[in-house]
Amino acid sequence: MSYARRVAARRRAVHVRRARRLALVALAAGALLAGEVAMLSQLVERGGASAAERLPEPAPTVAADQIIPVPVIVQATAGDPADAPKGCADGALQAKGPQALLDAFGGAAGMQAAILDGDAPCVPLDDPSLPWVVVNKTRPLQPNDYAPADVRVPPSHMVEGELRADVIDSYEQLVAAAAGEGAGAISLFSGYRSYGVQVETYGSQVGARGQQGADALSARPGFSEHQTGLAVDVVACDGGCSTIYEFGGTRQGTWVAENSWRFGWIVRYGPDQTPTTGYEPEPWHLRYIGPELAAVYHEGGYATLEEFFGLPAAPDYG
Ligand code: DAL
Ligand code: ZN
Repeated sequence: MSYARRVAARRRAVHVRRARRLALVALAAGALLAGEVAMLSQLVERGGASAAERLPEPAPTVAADQIIPVPVIVQATAGDPADAPKGCADGALQAKGPQALLDAFGGAAGMQAAILDGDAPCVPLDDPSLPWVVVNKTRPLQPNDYAPADVRVPPSHMVEGELRADVIDSYEQLVAAAAGEGAGAISLFSGYRSYGVQVETYGSQVGARGQQGADALSARPGFSEHQTGLAVDVVACDGGCSTIYEFGGTRQGTWVAENSWRFGWIVRYGPDQTPTTGYEPEPWHLRYIGPELAAVYHEGGYATLEEFFGLPAAPDYG
């Protein structure tokens, strides 16, 4: 399904869920009304019968203060958001952190649906400290020189690189699972890159390929996911380590494409996604978005974060 059609389908699904909720409320209200009508017609029938047929006791009356309102309970299903949850609009929820936000939406599916429907003002997609931040050629880091608070070398490193301290465990689990499931050794080749390092990285690509060639596989400074500390370039190490460009053809590359979501990671620049991402496929570039969102991303068959969150394609710098 095309990008536009998939986004439209997601939006339709949200509207259908809303229509169902409204229908349930309408049915419940109708049932209440029907009950009242039935009671009234009983009273009318009793009042209209002959004296002999009348019941000995007076016809029952219902005082206004005796009517107990029946609550209409609409059961929310997992991943079926109501509108923005309490505390979303005023910033209270956001201050509690990413997990509290996910919980408030009933989970990752609910959060994603709310974002697609424009009902998630407390879920900024441009905060580089949040695992769901979207950085691309039209969405630079804010601020431009952002640096994560704590980056470290993961225990399994073989080549080089650091990543955000709070995602090291999930990265280590991925590496261990790949080895344990027979895919072989994976090594970090490049992780966190500061704005200054990206100046050098991008500059060396421009020197080697020219600006157009560099823009197809290296982000300009201030536009790289590596600056968040949530992205890694990995290589396969069977004996020696091969290059990032060879990764896609290795068993590690195949395993990562199929399994990285289990640990909260996605392959950010997949095959055939250049019109959306602006980059050639990079099977070696993994991006952490957290296990809940990654599971929804995988189950939904998404190929880009832009599509997942209903954002415009970003093939070029603005
Ligand atoms: N290679 C990716 C696009 C980066 O430089 O961030
Ligand atoms: Zn990368």
